[in-house]
Amino acid sequence: MPIFYGVGVGTGDPELLTLKALRILREVPVIGIPRRSPYDPSFAWTAVEPSLGEVPGQERLSLIFPMTKDPTVLLPAWEKALDEIGERFAQGKSVAFITAGDPFVYSTFIYLYEGAAKRWPDLRREVVPGISSITACAAALGIPLADGKERIAVLPATYGVDDLAEILEKFDTVILMKVNNCVPKVVKALERTELLDKAVYISKATTRQQKVVRNLKSIEKDRCDYFSMIVVAKRTNSGVLAGKQAKQAQARDAS
Ligand SMILES: C[S@@+](CC[C@H](N)C(=O)[O-])C[C@H]1O[C@@H](n2cnc3c(N)ncnc32)[C@H](O)[C@@H]1O
Repeated sequence: MPIFYGVGVGTGDPELLTLKALRILREVPVIGIPRRSPYDPSFAWTAVEPSLGEVPGQERLSLIFPMTKDPTVLLPAWEKALDEIGERFAQGKSVAFITAGDPFVYSTFIYLYEGAAKRWPDLRREVVPGISSITACAAALGIPLADGKERIAVLPATYGVDDLAEILEKFDTVILMKVNNCVPKVVKALERTELLDKAVYISKATTRQQKVVRNLKSIEKDRCDYFSMIVVAKRTNSGVLAGKQAKQAQARDAS
């Protein structure tokens, strides 16, 4: 019986591919590779290719997902991808669909995973978690995300940041994904909450093209790379060392 795998391949550094991901990608007869267009090199594939190399007889199936939020374009693209994947299932072949980061974090795979269950209720589906940009960016920036009772919020910025000031009040660390052209709005909210100096921008984290910007105003007018994120970390010592204990620890550090 064929299996439909969603395989997270990490954030670009080929060494962030897990052993399990690599084993499955070596074993399957078909790898589904998401591309924005037939000419797109595929960010996910660049993380896989160096370790995987050639696998005799294996098909590398390009699946095209245009970069748009328009459902009239996206729905047919997802259905077409499922048609093509379904042809391989009909031949008894398992398919591993690769995704940047983790398959269940803002990934096209989620639609395929749910669509596949509707089309083929008996199909076995397996998800191989990947290192998400959320943790990879934190590591690359050297910013701990949360400790003790601290709370993390993750927002897809491109869908609106109107409530950002409110969220910044309620959470200790805020991760803004899909930053695209929202930097001016983000900067405004950060200025209002006096947190501009706590925000860092990072693009193409863990790759050779990684870029880090600590002065967000300097990129306010730029169109950001698709693979970019802003991390706002208040780090007010509200973790394990909260309240009185935090003050004692700070005093100890200072002495
Ligand atoms: C469609 S989501 C995919 C998220 C992915 N599934 C994950 O777990 O990281 C794309 C967004 O993830 C973030 N992203 C993915 N890879 C990144 C990287 N290497 N550096 C910075 N941000 C990244 C960006 O915010 C980008 O807009």
